[in-house]
Amino acid sequence: MRTRTFAGTPVGAVGLGCMGMSWAYSESERDDTASVELINEALDLGVTFLDTAQPYGDGHNETLVGRAVRGRRDEAVIATKTGLVVEDLHTKAMRRDGSPEHVKRSAEDSLRRLGTEVIDLYYLHRVDPAVPLADTWGAMAELVAEGKVRRLGLSEVGAAQAGEAHAIHPVAAIQSELSLWTRDALGAPGGLTGAFPGDATAGEGPGDVVAWCAGNGAVFVPFSPLGRGFLTGTVTAADFEDSDFRGGNPRFQEEALKANLRIVDVVKAVAARHGATPAQVAIAWTLAQGPHVIPIPGTKKSRYLRDNAGAAELDLTAADLSELDSVPAPVGSRY
Ligand SMILES: NC(=O)c1ccc[n+]([C@@H]2O[C@H](COP(=O)([O-])OP(=O)(O)OC[C@H]3O[C@@H](n4cnc5c(N)ncnc54)[C@H](OP(=O)(O)O)[C@@H]3O)[C@@H](O)[C@H]2O)c1
Repeated sequence: MRTRTFAGTPVGAVGLGCMGMSWAYSESERDDTASVELINEALDLGVTFLDTAQPYGDGHNETLVGRAVRGRRDEAVIATKTGLVVEDLHTKAMRRDGSPEHVKRSAEDSLRRLGTEVIDLYYLHRVDPAVPLADTWGAMAELVAEGKVRRLGLSEVGAAQAGEAHAIHPVAAIQSELSLWTRDALGAPGGLTGAFPGDATAGEGPGDVVAWCAGNGAVFVPFSPLGRGFLTGTVTAADFEDSDFRGGNPRFQEEALKANLRIVDVVKAVAARHGATPAQVAIAWTLAQGPHVIPIPGTKKSRYLRDNAGAAELDLTAADLSELDSVPAPVGSRY
C-alpha cells in the first residue's frame, strides 16, 4: 500500500478506525476474536495507523487493540485519546474532563490497557471549556517529557485553538470529521454543517484546519470518512438496531436519509467510471485533500478492510473531484 508520513514515520496512507469494534454501529455483530484477527490482517496489508480512544466501549477498545498488537507492537502507530469520560455506557453519554489530573491518570490507564510502554499519538478528544487549553495541553506535554507519549494531537478544534496549543508544544495531528458530506474542517463557508452544541467552535466554524495542518507540519486525520457508512451506498433505510448511534443521528432519520441518497448517487457514478467501490471513492476524496491527510475508515469486517485499503491506490481526476465537490449539501446536522 502507498504510504504517507506521520512525524517522520511512514504509515499506510489509509489507517484503521477501531471504534466500531466496541460500540456505535451494528453492535450485535461485535466479535472480539474476529476484531483481533482483523487488526492483524490490517497490519499485514500495511494499514498501520490505528485509531482508538478510552471512551470506545469504556476501555474495551483499547484493550482489544493492545491484545491485537501483542508481539508486533513496532509495526503499528497507535493513537488514543484523553479528555472525554463515559457517563453511561448504554446511552454513550460522555462528559469532558480536560483537567491535568484526568489527563495524567487516563494516560496511565490507557498505557496499561494497550499493554505498551509508550503511546505513539495522544489526542485531546475534545477541548474542555471549563479548563484553559494551556493547562490541559501542558499536562499532555509533560507526558511526552516523561516518555509515556511520543506525539500530541487535537480533535475537533478550530485553527485558533490549534495555534494556541502549538505555541506550547507541537501539534503533530488534528483529527476531525471530514468526508464528502462534512466539510467544516476545510473551512467550508458557513460550514456545511453546524458544530455540535457546546463545541468551542460552535457558531463560527473551525476555519480551514486541513490547511493549518499543512502549514504547521501536522497531519490531518479525517474521522468518519465514510460518513458513518452512509457514503458506501450500503445504508438505504433507517432500520438501525437500538444500540446503533445512527438511529438518533439527524442525517439518518428516514426523510433526511432518503434526501441524502442524492449524495451517494454521485459517489456511485464516479466509482463506476473507475471500476471502484463508493467506499473507495469516499476515502480517495479525503486523500486528495492533501499529502498530509491520513483517513481512518472504521470497520469490523475483513472484506470492508480490504476494500478500504484499496482506496490508497485510487487516483481521482480533476473532473472527479469537481463533481464530488459539488454534491448536494446534506439534510440534517452531523450530531
Ligand atoms: N475524534 C472523534 O471524535 C471521533 C469520532 C468518531 C469516530 N472517530 C474515529 O474515526 C474512525 C472512523 O469513523 P467511523 O467508524 O465513525 O465512521 P466511518 O469510517 O465513516 O464508517 C464506519 C461504518 O462504515 C461501515 N463500512 C466500513 N467500510 C465499509 C465498506 N468498505 N463498505 C461498506 N460499509 C463499510 C462500517 O461497517 P462495519 O462496522 O459493519 O464494518 C461502519 O458501519 C472510528 O473508528 C474512530 O476511531 C473519532
